[in-house]
Amino acid sequence: MYAPTSTHRKVTAPELQARKRGEKIAMVTAYDYTMARLVDAAGVDMVLVGDSLGMVVQGLGTTIPVTLEEMAYHCRAVARGLARAHMVGDLPFMSYQVSPSQAVESAGRLMKEGACESVKLEGGVEVAEHIQRIVRAGIPVVGHVGLTPQSVHALGGFKVQGRGEAAARVLEDARAVAQAGAFAVVLEAIPPDLAAEITASLDVPTIGIGAGAACDGQVLVCTDLLGMGLGRAPKFAKAFSNVGEIAVESFARFVAEVREGAFPAVGNTYRPNVGAAPPPDGARPPPETHAPHAELDFDAPLALDLWH
Ligand code: KIV
Repeated sequence: MYAPTSTHRKVTAPELQARKRGEKIAMVTAYDYTMARLVDAAGVDMVLVGDSLGMVVQGLGTTIPVTLEEMAYHCRAVARGLARAHMVGDLPFMSYQVSPSQAVESAGRLMKEGACESVKLEGGVEVAEHIQRIVRAGIPVVGHVGLTPQSVHALGGFKVQGRGEAAARVLEDARAVAQAGAFAVVLEAIPPDLAAEITASLDVPTIGIGAGAACDGQVLVCTDLLGMGLGRAPKFAKAFSNVGEIAVESFARFVAEVREGAFPAVGNTYRPNVGAAPPPDGARPPPETHAPHAELDFDAPLALDLWH
């Protein structure tokens, strides 16, 4: 029988919900195994495999073309890198809007095929029933109101939402989503006073992105947080380092060293055959450590002779 082998305990949806008015929640996006390991090692509470991967990973102008299959693929990769953080998978455009039944099916697929621990979907009053049905199926849901990028064409662009009279609608949406059973609600690109009012009026945590400091948590896209945009980042994002510049500089040094013949040096090269003692006559090859074609087990430990 399968049993988890990690000694870390995963952060759960009920624990995150209980953080309302407690310690603030830190959430970061990740789209692959390498980034997942890094954010997990940093103590991030929640990792979102966002459909922003359409723009960040695939280079698209919007998140609209992202498919459920693509989401599941990236979710699986991220899940393998997380020992502690709770993993949320985004339901992409048109995988849940059609009907509550479609929403339950798509959410179920992300849980089964993507190893997600909860799902996120965009919208307010109009998706409340969808959320209710997913939650009833035993799947924790994160809501997302304010700027909902899957509706970018209806909204007329990536613009701040909830200004003036439109504030009441965002508040109503947030309440509807929380009432439907979402255990947390992302507030994107809304004025900070509106975010504070929503945060005060909900029993579940709000997680802000471009929504000011009053939210119960904050989320950033990993590449914005790391400063990987080479000058391109939304106004609300903060680069906590300049990994983009460091990466370009490192690639350029590699190019120079390859051209000069300085890389690889002796330290990056295996012992040559020349001068190595031949095996004695009749010596048997070392025993196989794994029976060839034994049951396929992609998690089986392999010899790591190539590593440091
Ligand atoms: O897709 C995403 O990364 C998101 C965050 C911006 C909240 O929805």
